[in-house]
Amino acid sequence: MTIQDKLAELRHSTLEKLKQANLEKSKEIQDLRVEVLGKKGSLTEILKGLKDLSAEERPVIGKYVNEVRDVLTEAFDNANALIEEEKIAMQLASETIDVTLPGKPVAVGNRHVLTQTAEELEDIFLGMGFQVVDGFEVEKDYYNFERMNLPKDHPARDMQDTFYITEEILLRTHTSPVQARTMDQHDFSNGPLKMVSPGRVFRRDTDDATHSHQFHQIEGLVVGENISMGDLKGTLQLISQKMFGEDRKIRLRPSYFPFTEPSVEVDVSCFKCGGEGCNVCKKTGWIEILGAGMVHPSVLEMSGIDSEKYSGFAFGLGQERIAMLRYGINDIRGFYQGDARFSEQFKG
Ligand code: PHE
Repeated sequence: MTIQDKLAELRHSTLEKLKQANLEKSKEIQDLRVEVLGKKGSLTEILKGLKDLSAEERPVIGKYVNEVRDVLTEAFDNANALIEEEKIAMQLASETIDVTLPGKPVAVGNRHVLTQTAEELEDIFLGMGFQVVDGFEVEKDYYNFERMNLPKDHPARDMQDTFYITEEILLRTHTSPVQARTMDQHDFSNGPLKMVSPGRVFRRDTDDATHSHQFHQIEGLVVGENISMGDLKGTLQLISQKMFGEDRKIRLRPSYFPFTEPSVEVDVSCFKCGGEGCNVCKKTGWIEILGAGMVHPSVLEMSGIDSEKYSGFAFGLGQERIAMLRYGINDIRGFYQGDARFSEQFKG
């Protein structure tokens, strides 16, 4: 066989093989390419015979060799391109999108149950014309105690020991200092002062299921002309109904706070048993929810408010206590541990 015949035969057989090659198996085509066009392939093998050709024949055959190489290279390239196309077509066929399938839900967080409780209470008070005021967690002894009628040597300070930054600066033990700060600012020619102030407070306490060295309160304060105990009772009655149900009643018991006179402890009728007595109300039918009272005249006077002309009521409630009662939470530590499983129970 002449070189020319060999080349023609190689071209023919390779193209034939390519035609029959399984396009799904790109490896088969790659192997064939190496076999034919590779360094040690059939073409190279045939070219070894070139050296036996005459000087006239060589350029003619050389040209033919190039032509065969080009034709085959192109044929392999085409085959590869076809394989790629086929691959993509197959992928597209198997990856059809069903737009009617439900989408993957995006994981959305939720507000902390205490935030929810505070915001719910704020909403109720905003609806009654109260303003929401922020206070300082790091507070002066002066506002936390002295302005609340607890001078330096007052025995009632013992009930609210706290963390001291300096002798005069401490972590506030209640939200009540916000009362003094707000009264100092209020212009009574614009009408009565009605405010609530939610926030974190601190006490020296041993943490257990019902005690925490930091917790949250909401302070309430109304000061104006002719503000009476009846206004306090009416306001708290409404709050109790909104938070614990329309049928709730409240009960006031005498108590003591240095900054209110008279002072009361407020109970709400049990929302679980309705007053019959059960495990939630410890068989009494009543649940203690907050402390309150009429603002002590000295507290008004310290803000420069004429206690003959103006009077007021104040109350302070614990956010944790309200949330624990409403949701049946029996360990206060759950609020602070940052366990998402705790929070997820109160999606709202
Ligand atoms: N500040 C009181 C406490 O933390 C609660 C309170 C507020 C009582 C306002 C009366 C009036 O115990």
